[in-house]
Amino acid sequence: MNQNYPPRQDYNFASSSIRAENVHSDPVEQFRLWYEEEEAAGHGEPNRIALATTTKSGAPSLRMVLLKIFGPEGFFFFSDYTSRKAVEMEANPHVAILSHWPRLQRQVRIEGRVEKSSREVTENYFNSRPRLSRAAAAVSHQSSVMDSRDSFEAQLQSLAAGENPIECPETWGGYRVVPTRFEFWQGQPGRVHDRVQYDVEGDQWSLSELQP
Ligand SMILES: Cc1cc2nc3c(=O)[nH]c(=O)nc-3n(C[C@H](O)[C@H](O)[C@H](O)COP(=O)(O)O)c2cc1C
Repeated sequence: MNQNYPPRQDYNFASSSIRAENVHSDPVEQFRLWYEEEEAAGHGEPNRIALATTTKSGAPSLRMVLLKIFGPEGFFFFSDYTSRKAVEMEANPHVAILSHWPRLQRQVRIEGRVEKSSREVTENYFNSRPRLSRAAAAVSHQSSVMDSRDSFEAQLQSLAAGENPIECPETWGGYRVVPTRFEFWQGQPGRVHDRVQYDVEGDQWSLSELQP
């Protein structure tokens, strides 16, 4: 088979190499460091993450979401509690999330258990959203089949244009991923990449380096 492969890109960030002994002992702090470096580099939306879920029988699915809060309590994103991802997370709370920061040639993989966030966290975030986004959350049954786009738009516009407060629907809210594993990947020349993994052991993190 004659194949035109995509152009090869070299990874040449040897100056920011990572080793088990030069990363932060707390992976959330290491994530924060890289997140802030990506943010400072101004590449836009450092909080885009891929979220992998599975059905009860193990069939995977993947989509992007936005990481809105992270810290010692976990990694938070917001969604519709009736969506496909919500149904899958209900069936299997083991999830994976992934950040890819290509210009710094970095990837962070996080695995853990997910649970719904408190109503307080949900409502705080919901109330910070612009009115159209609040209206969309109230009108949309995310991932259900759209019967009529016209009637959906009419419902959305009438709610968004009104003056009444838009309450956070019970079917919408936050999720919190509590990590059990992190892997930090830094691209290096010749595909000899740096990889540092953290695994939770009780309330401690153990570190190991992985082959490229
Ligand atoms: C960059 C980006 C950010 C997104 N952020 C979110 C988000 O924070 N929450 C959300 O529910 N969907 C978000 N979406 C849409 C999801 O990728 C997906 O289409 C939607 O959640 C339905 O997924 P599901 O059918 O697996 O439930 C985002 C999409 C993109 C491309």
